[in-house]
Amino acid sequence: MTALLEVDDLRVAYGKVEAVKGISFRVEEGQVVTLIGTNGAGKTTTLHTLSGLLAPSAGRIRFAGRDLERIPAHQIVALGLAHSPEGRHIFPRLTVEENLLLGAFLRRDAEGIADDTERAYTLFPRLRERRTQAAGTLSGGEQQMLAMARALMCRPKLLMLDEPSMGLSPIMMKKIMATVAELKAGGTTILLVEQNARAALALADHAYVMETGRISLSGSGSDLLDDDSVRKAYLGED
Ligand SMILES: Nc1ncnc2c1ncn2[C@@H]1O[C@H](COP(=O)(O)OP(=O)(O)OP(=O)(O)O)[C@@H](O)[C@H]1O
Ligand SMILES: [Mg+2]
Repeated sequence: MTALLEVDDLRVAYGKVEAVKGISFRVEEGQVVTLIGTNGAGKTTTLHTLSGLLAPSAGRIRFAGRDLERIPAHQIVALGLAHSPEGRHIFPRLTVEENLLLGAFLRRDAEGIADDTERAYTLFPRLRERRTQAAGTLSGGEQQMLAMARALMCRPKLLMLDEPSMGLSPIMMKKIMATVAELKAGGTTILLVEQNARAALALADHAYVMETGRISLSGSGSDLLDDDSVRKAYLGED
């Protein structure tokens, strides 16, 4: 079976410093795949490269039958690859609804956009209550909901989430992870980058561990949850 996303020997450098040193991984349709790893391992760099915000120095990115390496970012979104970035990057002065609609900026089907706005509010009722509120006044957890909902507004084939639980209370983190599980159950394909390795591995069909620009380990989510080195390094166990 061909994968929805296939990354082959990808390298990315900032000037002379190579941040991603030849990684290969794949995401099949309908899967949740997670990338976990320490700070500075190259996870965000990888997602930025998939989105077309950074150019790879070598390697291949194949998505939905196309080579992405030389395709500009806005066309990559149009191909169905959506990115909810680390730090959320919502537009603070715009309302919740205006932020959501920006996620549909490439679309012209008013009815479909209205349906998807409704779906976003069903997924996140908190956003419906605050639809006319300036997004900058939302709590951190609500801003995360908005960043995810905005990414879903282009009806992506693949949703990339970069640290959705960052800085959230345990309860809000659970809520966000439950939403990821709900999206998976609804058939959304997800590439999830998370510091909370336990929650990410529990959800993931397949997982990759990144260390200083390389993939050091991979396996099913449950295999890695049982792996001694993962338990010590990422799950805080002795
Ligand atoms: N714009 C940049 N210019 C130079 N170096 C950068 C830049 N962005 C990231 N780096 C470096 O690239 C490496 C990988 O960073 P990246 O943000 O991809 O890591 P990460 O795995 O997402 O880490 P974290 O878990 O802390 O978010 C780090 O050493 C970082 O300092
Ligand atoms: Mg990061």
